[in-house]
Amino acid sequence: MEAIYAALLGYLLGSVPFGLLLTKAAGMGDVRQIGSGNIGATNVLRTGKKGLAAATLLLDLVKGFAAVWIAGQLWGGPAMAFGAGAAVIGHCFPVWLGFKGGKGVATNAGVCFGLALPIGLSYALVWLSILAIFRISSLAGMSAVVAAAAAAPLFGYPEYFPVLAAIAGLIIYLHRANIARLMKGEEPRIGGKKT
Ligand code: G3P
Repeated sequence: MEAIYAALLGYLLGSVPFGLLLTKAAGMGDVRQIGSGNIGATNVLRTGKKGLAAATLLLDLVKGFAAVWIAGQLWGGPAMAFGAGAAVIGHCFPVWLGFKGGKGVATNAGVCFGLALPIGLSYALVWLSILAIFRISSLAGMSAVVAAAAAAPLFGYPEYFPVLAAIAGLIIYLHRANIARLMKGEEPRIGGKKT
């Protein structure tokens, strides 16, 4: 039963579309109508509003962290993995937006920090390093989700490997259009002409 409660809580928290809410509140219109159509921080940045993008990143991260942390506090360790997976699913498939949401990278960052600090730090290190080197958000995000799944057994948390591997598979699948652009050398860079 705890697993179901944790999954419901995780889904509800994850499904709050902060990128859409913030851009609408700021009078920027519907972020789904610009750039990649994604509701995440990378696409919010394409509005030209860095503060809104930073707030989206932070809030999407915090909701992932909260889903895991609250599940752990209320229902114990085993429920955390359910909160984790459900938070990312909620972000990617929010019922409020006809199940068309974001790609889960920022939410999964919060999830990783909620599961275990070494997993979160591995995620952040890979994410920020790849971003600094290539300035391609999608490449950094996909590298980080794979790193987090690998970090789980490496740092002594094998119980989180299944959920992190499943999340990595989902997030990479949701990036299939980005992967196609990457392979053609057409994926926009942060701060580049197309972003
Ligand atoms: O977190 C989303 C990012 O990896 C890609 O976003 O808008 O470039 O498809 P976008």
